[in-house]
Amino acid sequence: NTAYSHILTETRGKVGLITLNRPKALNALCNDLFTEVNDALRKYDNDSNIGAVVITGSQKAFAAGADIKEMKDNSFIETYKTDFLGHWAEMTSIKKPILAAVNGYALGGGCELAMMCDIIYAGEKAVFGQPEIKLGVIPGAGGTQRLVKAVGKSKAMEMVLTGSVNLNAQEALAAGLVSKIVPIEELVDETVKTAELIANMGQPSVAMGKELINKSFEIPLSAGLRWERILFQSLFGTADQKEGMNAFVEKRKANFTNQ
Ligand code: CAA
Repeated sequence: NTAYSHILTETRGKVGLITLNRPKALNALCNDLFTEVNDALRKYDNDSNIGAVVITGSQKAFAAGADIKEMKDNSFIETYKTDFLGHWAEMTSIKKPILAAVNGYALGGGCELAMMCDIIYAGEKAVFGQPEIKLGVIPGAGGTQRLVKAVGKSKAMEMVLTGSVNLNAQEALAAGLVSKIVPIEELVDETVKTAELIANMGQPSVAMGKELINKSFEIPLSAGLRWERILFQSLFGTADQKEGMNAFVEKRKANFTNQ
């Protein structure tokens, strides 16, 4: 897509693919890059032909963090007034599932971007880390919050406070940060395959499943369970529920219409 300067977008079947494309800066997440990512995500979210989105980088770097050169001279008052990095979180309001295909470095904001996605697949040489402390700061886009939920307190502390303890793909899998390790060359195709599988399910139920799992990080169990049951019940008002259950009984593949 020629409208973007720092990302590439393409459609594969029902999947939107966003490739971070600032190779000279190892996909450092400058302000404009993230604005473009959110813009592309919003367009895919509004496109009824798309059911899921994959975000990837290069084989060397998913993203090496926020752009240090761009932010190094920022003042407190500037960052505070403009809510610096606040716009990154816009991607968490996207309804369709977002899958991260992480090859190479996912450091600082790169790790945080991956953690704002719904599923992470790692290439064999992926590296996850939060090195901000070495720059005299701390993670600013979820590294002190989402990482704890993904890898537990002790490992998160070790990563964030030393800035030097990174997770390789095997460690990230063992910790539960990623759900699968894939050979480097096959990573994007494999991630798109899972995205396509999701995109062929009924979109209302996919969106509700995503919303509820993300809610589980924020609300008490009893409230989450109540929400779950109400949304489960509400799906009996959809054509997709009738189609899905009739297809099972008739021993055929369901053909969902997202209604
Ligand atoms: N910001 C800006 N430029 C970056 C960058 C970043 N985060 N990471 C890499 N680059 C640039 C380098 O400056 C270099 O540019 P030049 O060729 O102009 O010198 C180019 O990308 C290639 O990088 P290296 O030469 O360093 O490549 P390498 O293979 O030797 O090392 C690396 C790779 C280990 C990832 C190293 O680049 C690195 O440590 N990068 C910084 C990682 C980091 O600290 N990330 C956290 C940023 S802060 C943050 O993200 C805050 C937050 O919570 C949101």
